[in-house]
Amino acid sequence: MRSLIAGTGSYAPAKILTNADIEKLVDTSDQWIVERTGIRQRHVAAPEEATSDLALAAARRALESAKLDPADVEMIVVGTVTPDYQFPSVAAVVQGKLGNKKAFAFDLTAACAGSLYALSIADRFVSTGAVKNALVIGADALTRITDWTDRNTCILFGDGAGAMVLRPTDEPGRGVLTTRLHTDGSLVSILLMPGGGSRDPLSQKVLDERSHFVKMNGREVFKVAVRALVESCREVLAAEGLTPADVKHVIAHQANKRILDATLERLEIPASRCWMNLEKYGNTSAASVPMTLDEANRAGWFQPGDPILMMAIGGGMAWGASIVRW
Ligand code: COA
Repeated sequence: MRSLIAGTGSYAPAKILTNADIEKLVDTSDQWIVERTGIRQRHVAAPEEATSDLALAAARRALESAKLDPADVEMIVVGTVTPDYQFPSVAAVVQGKLGNKKAFAFDLTAACAGSLYALSIADRFVSTGAVKNALVIGADALTRITDWTDRNTCILFGDGAGAMVLRPTDEPGRGVLTTRLHTDGSLVSILLMPGGGSRDPLSQKVLDERSHFVKMNGREVFKVAVRALVESCREVLAAEGLTPADVKHVIAHQANKRILDATLERLEIPASRCWMNLEKYGNTSAASVPMTLDEANRAGWFQPGDPILMMAIGGGMAWGASIVRW
């Protein structure tokens, strides 16, 4: 038995912040941002919108597309680094608002790789028959932890949520095949939010140092990202006996167009096979992969059985890749 992605959904908040808007906040230009990242605009959650609100909207759309009653969901896992509260989880808030009493619900933290990690965990429960279905969500409001005075980071991030419904299938040639996850904790310092946690609880010092915002060594992240993504994609392809030429579609974390171009070039997969939407949304962290999957799905990009290569990387560094047959 395998897990089938039986439905997808996504949500982006209404407010759009363009590169021209960011030119008014920091010393940058639309041209610089587009050339270095490919991003033209991003969506920003309204002040009253929390991560669970984004997650809930995406979840409802995914459940609708899978024709699954919210009350029947048995497992909810949310990848996020911007939960509504330190605890309890976004997943618990979503479960409550869906009116569901059956599902066990929890969040996991793997930054921008969060939804791929969540997919892999949920796949283990569904494909072994431990649960009959699972709701996998990636949701982040990264603009809430973005330093709008730091031009190195504030150009990159946007808010959103994406969701997938997993169901068991015995149909040959369909479902989640191989997923491989990796972490290199020696790289914690190149992408993190250092303040406001148990290491350095919220204090005047944290506020003064602005350490409650994302800090990033962009050049290092870039280098690690390309190498790690290429390696893990090769790993899952080899595990399934596939070559890059067999890959029909790529659904990748939308961090930066140059990272993806370099990764695809090394894998010798034509860029046209990779669904891109970062020009509209920026880097939406854990939301990115399921938002991209939903957009491609709703555009009719996938046929049953199509081999799809999924990949993501984020702070940790944490990364992975997956081969799914639609
Ligand atoms: N506008 C204009 N200039 C900027 C700028 C901005 N927004 N941000 C940085 N610069 C400047 C730098 O200050 C630097 O100037 P200097 O040479 O005078 O010091 C110059 O541009 C080059 O900076 P550098 O950091 O080397 O640029 P880069 O080519 O590496 O691009 C990133 C910066 C952030 C776009 C790139 O490193 C990147 O995308 N990294 C990966 C980030 C990422 O995806 N993170 C999330 C992973 S999940």
